[in-house]
Amino acid sequence: MNIKGKIAVITGASSGLGAAIARALVAKECRVYGLARNTEKLEQIKNEIGENFIPVVIDIANKDLLDTWIQKTFHEDHLPDILINNAGAGYFTKIDALTFDRWHEMINTNLNGTFYCTSLLVPFMKKNKNTCHILNIGSILGKTTRAEGAAYSATKYAIQGFSESLFKELRSYKIKVTCVNPGSIDTHFFQESGIHAHSNMLQPYDIAIVITQLIETPDNLLVDEITLRPLQAQAPMQ
Ligand SMILES: NC(=O)c1ccc[n+]([C@@H]2O[C@H](COP(=O)([O-])OP(=O)(O)OC[C@H]3O[C@@H](n4cnc5c(N)ncnc54)[C@H](OP(=O)(O)O)[C@@H]3O)[C@@H](O)[C@H]2O)c1
Repeated sequence: MNIKGKIAVITGASSGLGAAIARALVAKECRVYGLARNTEKLEQIKNEIGENFIPVVIDIANKDLLDTWIQKTFHEDHLPDILINNAGAGYFTKIDALTFDRWHEMINTNLNGTFYCTSLLVPFMKKNKNTCHILNIGSILGKTTRAEGAAYSATKYAIQGFSESLFKELRSYKIKVTCVNPGSIDTHFFQESGIHAHSNMLQPYDIAIVITQLIETPDNLLVDEITLRPLQAQAPMQ
């Protein structure tokens, strides 16, 4: 796909990986709807990268608000080309210390939000004459797991299965689906998550470049899954 002039929806665009992907796509003259809950952070990104970044203050776990926004934004003459399901929450703790609220937050954001965005946008993508692309941000913890990550891994293993089924369903509609599974990334994710950062994490910008390249692959070439890892994951903190 030639990204110039295309329309993208990125969830979780107010920080970390989502913001980095928004910057990379806007640099390629893509029009990006950046969804997140924090108005101030979204506005800061718009001030930084310009009018092609359109902040959309929304909680993706709220299916009614999402439905209203999508139906009023997209129509025959304004169809989405790219959806990046990136918004996510992660808390890591012993199962008997994980609150029900945190369980629900992870399920509602990582899983329900991804389903709502995808199921509501796919009808518009099916009307699009261009090849479209959905990229789901999974995790290395959706392929292998660790102790005290049961809830988070449950959502990311689910994203893996969701993505694989979806690519088989949507390829005949010229809609690509890719599951991107990063290892640890240097973002705010670690601040509340309960796991420790290390000194050699993946950089959001570097992953954003890989995602851009995945979107730019020839129309008949589909990467259904990709895993990205730092080279020295356990390097000591400096
Ligand atoms: N960091 C890592 O090591 C790592 C590794 C593998 C995979 N991942 C995955 O990468 C993705 C991005 O994470 P990150 O590392 O960039 O973390 P981050 O900096 O904490 O970003 C998370 C983003 O999700 C948004 N978000 C959370 N809940 C939301 C909701 N209900 N509705 C709308 N937006 C919501 C947040 O914005 P608001 O708070 O403004 O809503 C924020 O923009 C996640 O899916 C995460 O699971 C991260």
